[in-house]
Amino acid sequence: MDTAHDHDVIVVGSGAAGLTAALALAEKVRVLVLAKGTLTGGSTAWAQGGIAAVLDAGDTFENHIRDTMVAGAGLNRLETVEYVIERAPHSIERLVELGVPFNKAEDFGATDLHLTREGGHSHRRIVHVADATGWAVQEALLKAAEAHPNITLLPGQTCIDLITGKHEERYSGSGRVWGVYALDEATGKVAAHTGRATVLATGGAGRVYLFSTAPRGATGDGIAMAWRAGCRVGNMEMMQFHPTCLYHLETKNFLITEAVRGEGGRLINPKTGHRYMPDYDERAELAPRDIVARANDAEIKRDGLDYVHLDISHQPAEFVKHHFPNIYEKLMGLGIDMTTSPIPVVPAQHYTCGGIVIDLAGRTDLPGLYAAGECTESGLHGANRLASNSLLECFVFGEAAAADILARWDEFEAPPPIRAWDESRVTDSDEEVVIQQNWTEIRRFMWNYVGIVRTTKRLERAAHRIRLLTGEIEDYYGHFRVTTGLIELRNLLQTADLIVRSALARHESRGLHYTLDYPQTDAVAKDTVLVP
Ligand code: FAD
Ligand code: SIN
Repeated sequence: MDTAHDHDVIVVGSGAAGLTAALALAEKVRVLVLAKGTLTGGSTAWAQGGIAAVLDAGDTFENHIRDTMVAGAGLNRLETVEYVIERAPHSIERLVELGVPFNKAEDFGATDLHLTREGGHSHRRIVHVADATGWAVQEALLKAAEAHPNITLLPGQTCIDLITGKHEERYSGSGRVWGVYALDEATGKVAAHTGRATVLATGGAGRVYLFSTAPRGATGDGIAMAWRAGCRVGNMEMMQFHPTCLYHLETKNFLITEAVRGEGGRLINPKTGHRYMPDYDERAELAPRDIVARANDAEIKRDGLDYVHLDISHQPAEFVKHHFPNIYEKLMGLGIDMTTSPIPVVPAQHYTCGGIVIDLAGRTDLPGLYAAGECTESGLHGANRLASNSLLECFVFGEAAAADILARWDEFEAPPPIRAWDESRVTDSDEEVVIQQNWTEIRRFMWNYVGIVRTTKRLERAAHRIRLLTGEIEDYYGHFRVTTGLIELRNLLQTADLIVRSALARHESRGLHYTLDYPQTDAVAKDTVLVP
């Protein structure tokens, strides 16, 4: 391979998708991995429940495919669902090779890997590392990437925009992507990082909502960058709310894994003491999470509650501590003993099902640009993601993107000279408070107007707020030197706009998009695709 340039491929994101792509690419080419903040700042490190894969002799790919399509309310692309699910056992093997210490069933009294259960799965098929799977996966991938001579890891870089033909010194105006402009968070300088191919693996946009289980940096940056550069985005109205986020005045955003329900946890109305899930769905607590989240929301709103209860205290204390050691410890620190008392929980935004439209090779609409993981709409999740299918998607599409780049390497020419970032017309911001104020405003109206239950009137209110803020934020962006906060604010607003436009375009209720104005589900499932 020609390595005349510093880096052959630019990967944006150091989570499961980015590092999987980087490791596969590094077998042949030199890879630069850029990450905002720390290298472990994405959602990957926070994942609890595990990774779905058909590993049990009594289970089949057909079962996993059917469960995924049922959860996704038929909006999934069957071709993608089959592609991902059939590759799941390979992904798990690869992670075992990298040293991920998955729980063995012998820890639980049998052999092979222990499989837990989550909502929407007809079989036990979730491999896990206790209740902190993501951290173990992140550590193993990072260790391998750090040790690889062809990988350079560069944290503290907030990417601002994709570099395309519009940024070539000899302007071509083409959509060909040559890398990214990124802000060095330590020096405040913006640099152009160029390569023959670029992979976006920037995660989701959960922080567009006031309450979310996602980490601070989940601001939809990759989706917004790709949209601005000319990529289509799909199904952005399909925002997943997790039914059981801890309700606690001091600790926000702490997830109580779905596996607690998988291992027998029950949802109880604290006012009446009634176990209500069987009233909503025959699968009770193990119904897909859109159904459970709506049920929790309905109980809370009907009875004016602050939270509902998740109770697993009927299971033996040792069983609970063994399955959920981290959650047990965290809750004990807050004075809640889950082996004897119920856990107060509320729904919170959890996962971005929509995103940059990609094909089975991780290719976007723009030449030289690939994407993988939560920032994409690959067709896997449809109208609602099945639990523990998303880490899997990161591994499968991280590898797919890398394989396609390597297979086409000879078609990828070296980047031309690129214009430096122009700061001649901006000054330092004098009013940082504007960023905080607008950030809070967006997250609040998205929660109130574009949440679990929607109406056209609420969506139009949100659209109106977005129109007002767009002028203000673009004006601010045009006049002041960029900071991470400003870059994220611009992307949050862009993402909010894509979500609201997509929600207004869907005139039915399907999966995660539930609107009182169109309660019916149409006979034919159609993607919402926005074209820039
Ligand atoms: P992430 O892991 O989010 O990584 C994104 C990367 O992009 C980060 O390195 C970030 O710094 C970087 N980045 C973002 N913007 C920029 C920018 N502008 N410039 C530079 N870098 C940038 N899924 C499962 O399958 N099983 C589970 O058990 C599970 N549990 C979960 C629990 C929680 C609390 C949460 C929040 C999610 C959970 N999920 C789970 C979902 C899953 O963790 C994510 O979908 C998945 O980890 C996303 O991986 P990713 O590589 O796409 O992105
Ligand atoms: C959880 O552990 O409940 C989260 C699993 C997921 O998001 O897939």
